[in-house]
Amino acid sequence: MHRRLIAPGALAAASLLLAIPASAADYQPGAPGIGDPYYPYYGNGGYDVSHYDLRLKYQPQSDELEGTATILARTTRDLSRFDLDFLLDVSEVRVNGAKATFATSGQHELVVTPATPLPKDTPVTVVVRYSGVPSTKSAYGFTTWHRTPDGAIAADEPEAAWWWFPSNDHPLDKATYDVSVAVPDGTQAISNGRLQSTSSKLGWTRYNWRSGKPQATYLTTLAIGKFDITTGTTSAGVPVVNAYSKDLGDNDGAARASVERTGELVDWLTGYFGPYPFDSVGGYVPNTTTGYALETQTRIYYSPKQFANGSNTSVVVHELAHQWYGDDVSLKGWKDIWINEGFARYAQWLWSEHEGEGTAQELADYVYASHPADDAFWTVRPGDPGPDNQFDTAVYDRGALAVQALRNEVGDEAFFAILKGWPKEHAYGNASVSDFQAYAEKVSGKPLASLFGTWLFQPSKPAASAARTAAVARASAAPARPRSWTKIAATNDVHGH
Ligand code: TRP
Ligand code: ZN
Repeated sequence: MHRRLIAPGALAAASLLLAIPASAADYQPGAPGIGDPYYPYYGNGGYDVSHYDLRLKYQPQSDELEGTATILARTTRDLSRFDLDFLLDVSEVRVNGAKATFATSGQHELVVTPATPLPKDTPVTVVVRYSGVPSTKSAYGFTTWHRTPDGAIAADEPEAAWWWFPSNDHPLDKATYDVSVAVPDGTQAISNGRLQSTSSKLGWTRYNWRSGKPQATYLTTLAIGKFDITTGTTSAGVPVVNAYSKDLGDNDGAARASVERTGELVDWLTGYFGPYPFDSVGGYVPNTTTGYALETQTRIYYSPKQFANGSNTSVVVHELAHQWYGDDVSLKGWKDIWINEGFARYAQWLWSEHEGEGTAQELADYVYASHPADDAFWTVRPGDPGPDNQFDTAVYDRGALAVQALRNEVGDEAFFAILKGWPKEHAYGNASVSDFQAYAEKVSGKPLASLFGTWLFQPSKPAASAARTAAVARASAAPARPRSWTKIAATNDVHGH
């Protein structure tokens, strides 16, 4: 039996005057954040989403988005109300079929109060009807929704969902997705996973995408525009779907010469990381003017700027590496970003080695030498960089240096076992830097606290003596092949934030 809700302000006073049974007092509001110290209001507490069904309609000319989100969740405590993270205008919310009341709060909270409180450990279906012009919405003074000449894209980190669907916006709450988008005939809508079907009526074409493995909210992407789509398969039979804006101009050739190698590069990475974890792969290159690339799950976002200097297989390797390190195994908190970026950058070093453009050890030595002790680079602690430095170059480059230090400490056999074993150990889950240390210690049989402390947490340049194991390993390594430092530095540079 559930009691009618009492206004929160009245609750404390009322409970003193009336003998409210203890069980009713247990129904409390869910937390407005999931508990990430870097971003106290990202995600929410009190429930766990298993599936998002998004049924959308988008008009590129006006940037109007209409949608119905059906969210399947389970309560993790007795809830009087709960939050979703969202910025668009909501017209109706239903919880288990009944109309709920709702209000906005803070920068991006949608507070939903169900007609009946929700007991712990029960399934909940939430339906949110909404509309809005995403480019006009901002939180903390920014927007991550990008309009293009013929559409728009949603791809950002650590937040992108607020502009297009209500969610529990934190990697700790992964879910599966059906994303269905209607756009004017002649325009395409691209999202994660496999295209289940398309249909056309009344001047609108609807694209139905399905991403069937657990996926973090920030890895859920939407691209609308006029694209040329190519298809293929990896050697393991995973379908490859790539999309190129018809408007890439001078970058078109270099973009295709890079992204069309996705299947080959997945095959190559499989040798290091184990089987590709998802049922689809590919990337899209929209006609954006912003930079960056992002590891959106199964369908990577590449800015055309990544290809402004010619082909760039290195960025494709980086984003594909994230499919294992970041997407399959996601971080527990944003402080764990090293597991994403340190390993994605290290994969680029392995690719460089494969291409004869400098070995991983040579690149590690180069990074170590190119930042003098007084360089602010060494003040960033990759193992806990803080929200302001989350995507600092040091998280990537010093992060990869830490990976090389681990390799030298445990030896190649244990190192490559760790590299391949980690995605299996935490498949489709979440893990932290300390989980990684524990796993590396288990596989290698070596205590690694001091190594991790030095390379991930020390706020200054590790002494040359700490790099000694690197020097020892280098002395016994095969002679270096010809290389070009300038090319590598430029290729690696494009990932900094
Ligand atoms: N994770 C991205 C990469 O390493 C970089 C990134 C960080 C990013 N924040 C972003 C990309 C915001 C796009 C938007 O490739
Ligand atoms: Zn990255």
